[in-house]
Amino acid sequence: MKSIDLAVVSSDSRFLQRATDVARVFGFEYETFESVDVFFEKGEAFKGVTCIILDCGKIEKSNEAAGMTQVACQMAADSYIIIVMNSKLRPEDARIIKASGASLVMMENEFYASSKLEFVTSQVIRSAYIPVKNVDLVPGTEVDFPLFHLMPVNKKFLKVAKPGVIIREDFLQKYQDVGEFYLRRQDLAKWVEYSHGFEADDSQSLLRKCRLRFLQLNQSFLELALMISDQSSAASFALGKEMYGTCEAFATELLDSLTHVQNPWVVINSSAVGDFGSLERAPAIAAYAGLLSSLSKTGDPKEVMIGALLADVGYLELSPSTSAKIRENRVQDMHDEEKMEYSKHPIYSLNQCLSRKLPFSEAIKSMILQSHERADQKGFPNKINSDKIVEEAMLIRLCWELDNAAQIRLGEERRDINAVKNEIAGDYLSSMGSYSVGFMIKMQPIILKPDELEEKTLGKVRIH
Ligand SMILES: [Fe+2]
Repeated sequence: MKSIDLAVVSSDSRFLQRATDVARVFGFEYETFESVDVFFEKGEAFKGVTCIILDCGKIEKSNEAAGMTQVACQMAADSYIIIVMNSKLRPEDARIIKASGASLVMMENEFYASSKLEFVTSQVIRSAYIPVKNVDLVPGTEVDFPLFHLMPVNKKFLKVAKPGVIIREDFLQKYQDVGEFYLRRQDLAKWVEYSHGFEADDSQSLLRKCRLRFLQLNQSFLELALMISDQSSAASFALGKEMYGTCEAFATELLDSLTHVQNPWVVINSSAVGDFGSLERAPAIAAYAGLLSSLSKTGDPKEVMIGALLADVGYLELSPSTSAKIRENRVQDMHDEEKMEYSKHPIYSLNQCLSRKLPFSEAIKSMILQSHERADQKGFPNKINSDKIVEEAMLIRLCWELDNAAQIRLGEERRDINAVKNEIAGDYLSSMGSYSVGFMIKMQPIILKPDELEEKTLGKVRIH
């Protein structure tokens, strides 16, 4: 019996095409089934299915779609179930379907025309396991969650430690060269508890705390982004506010941890947050932005982090072809219509957040809306005057550029963050007009000489 990543249940060839295209792009193992009944019959042959996409697009009554959802839930209680519903149905209908056990409800038009499917499936399937550093496990301690090893050849996860096992030195040594183990995402809370058991002020503990907070921010941001993209929770403003609050708290804690470690830039760069080159990068960009804001005394670092986290939420509204080009770092290859769409993403981001009534300040709104404006008015979407662009927005764009250059893409080597920073400082000097002169004068020394300035600015004690 084998496990599969994705099961697509539909008899519509266009539906199947859309879902399997996404599966191929992300390398998911998938199977298609023409109906729930066939899935019921053949689905038993699989040990597990991580995600199911169920086509309810032809059903015009919400109670029928809800019934089908219930059947799918009974068959695959542990799976993440995405229901694609008829676009004529109303948000109330979406809520009924959601209440029947769907993990996410998507309108048919969104399924075809937006990038929500890419985001959700990549997060649910590819991020079902989260990496933790080998050095964050302590010999002689017991783990109450399983640990996995990612096999390099077939990219499968192999369970190497069961819950209740005592971590031994020789076990850690065996995997020393790999450097990382994986946990199931649902065990993150157990990992947090495990890690809290070894808090101390030594350098290893500070780094461990920093990585932990990164994971927590990443997880809470994904939940927030999924909530924003879920039609059925449109009226749940209280939930949005709560998730926003959690993100804010983890952002603050992460920044606090980053200001206590010796090489925060390296820590951010080596953190294993989403590496699909799209919205998944937001937590890394937010971390760079919070750090740079704090070092350069530009804006309120906490607000800058939130602005950076939310600036690209509008990516989810973009068409599949536009978002594919963003992911592949081929923005220059977009045709006119795609460029137009891409240039509106800051507006989409702001509108999405406003429609959820997220409780953020006017300053954060400006950061989101201006995150691609340039001092030479060649930016987008509004090409506003240089003196109207807030410095925090320029800072977020700078960190986005930094992350874009430093992130690890599939099949590429990890780059040295300091080399990337020097490059960025060089490019950025040669492209006068992109940023305001005052902003450049302020940022250049920080980008070029991080370590000394960091220590002076943050009053940090060097850790050996
Ligand atoms: Fe953006």
